[in-house]
Amino acid sequence: MVNNIFRPPPLLEVQHLSVGIEKGRSFLPAVNDISFTIAQREILGIVGESGCGKTLTALAIPGLLPGGISITRGSVVFENRDLAGLKSRELWEIRGKSISMIFQEPMTSLNPLLKIGRQIAEPLELHGYTDKALIRREVLDIMGKVGLPDPERLAGEYPHQLSGGMRQRVMIALAMICKPKLLIADEPTTALDVTIQAQLLRLMKWFNKNQGTSILFISHDLALVSLLCDRVLVMYAGKLVEEGLVQDIFSRPSHEYTKGLIGAIPSKDAKGRPLVNIPGKVPSIEDEEKLYGCPFAPRCSRAEPRCASAFPDQTDLGGGHYVRCFSPAGRRDEK
Ligand SMILES: Nc1ncnc2c1ncn2[C@@H]1O[C@H](COP(=O)(O)OP(=O)(O)OP(=O)(O)O)[C@@H](O)[C@H]1O
Ligand code: SF4
Ligand SMILES: [Mg+2]
Repeated sequence: MVNNIFRPPPLLEVQHLSVGIEKGRSFLPAVNDISFTIAQREILGIVGESGCGKTLTALAIPGLLPGGISITRGSVVFENRDLAGLKSRELWEIRGKSISMIFQEPMTSLNPLLKIGRQIAEPLELHGYTDKALIRREVLDIMGKVGLPDPERLAGEYPHQLSGGMRQRVMIALAMICKPKLLIADEPTTALDVTIQAQLLRLMKWFNKNQGTSILFISHDLALVSLLCDRVLVMYAGKLVEEGLVQDIFSRPSHEYTKGLIGAIPSKDAKGRPLVNIPGKVPSIEDEEKLYGCPFAPRCSRAEPRCASAFPDQTDLGGGHYVRCFSPAGRRDEK
């Protein structure tokens, strides 16, 4: 058997996670019974079309789900503690220090009235640092690491004085100043041009390699995921449909949805264009039919009658490659 691949112990272990959106007295299932791990020093990607539950999965981990949306089942064990059971004060202590997040639009996360240097210092101050000289050293050091030029001068400027790429670097500095063990990056490159995207990927790789930071990288862009990540999860309609090492997912995609996503990777000259060539669309969160069968059935060219009535169990394809499909392709012994 080839499925005993070596993996370091998990930093994060998500088990049977479901996230629901409150509607009246019940919850609409936005994320449905997903389990995965992130190892120390690992970069894990999550891909899937818009509305598949990627962001809610990411927000559930550090307890950042918005009002009216909650974890309805499951556990999120980080360094041996179940975050799903923690009080907000305890979660607050973990956020920014052990787990950080960066988002797509840096302007919404930066305070327009606060100078860059003060902003980058804030996570340190919030987590108990009081030595002003030490804070200043740390701020200038992280600004240098993320490639912000002339840190002494830039620390005195405001966010609106910076370009989009520079603001994204400030976001990374803010996220990384407390040296978190896990960085969650939700579509951090989507609004950026290709050159700045590449710089951001290099930076994330740098922190991964030099500080051992594990990364959960969420993106529509499979090409970026293939450049950055070690493993990938493919989500569809709130469910995990395939998972595996990047090279296996790209060379032997098994689920019809994964194949469609890979087939839709735009060519170099059309980068950034939304995925368009899987016929049909992701079922709405209100669509109850998706709860009973394989949610991809209405769009799947290989659908059989049973696909509409039951969700397939996980098939182990070997080498850490798993799929949920009644007739999976890409087994290792297949030609
Ligand atoms: N604050 C919210 N209130 C109500 N519904 C929400 C909220 N946030 C997300 N949803 C719904 O939950 C489902 C999953 O959303 P989520 O944002 O996790 O998707 P996503 O995969 O991150 O999509 P995208 O690629 O567009 O960011 C969608 O149907 C979405 O409409
Ligand atoms: S379970 Fe059926 S509908 Fe779903 S991907 Fe597999 S063949 Fe297609
Ligand atoms: Mg999202």
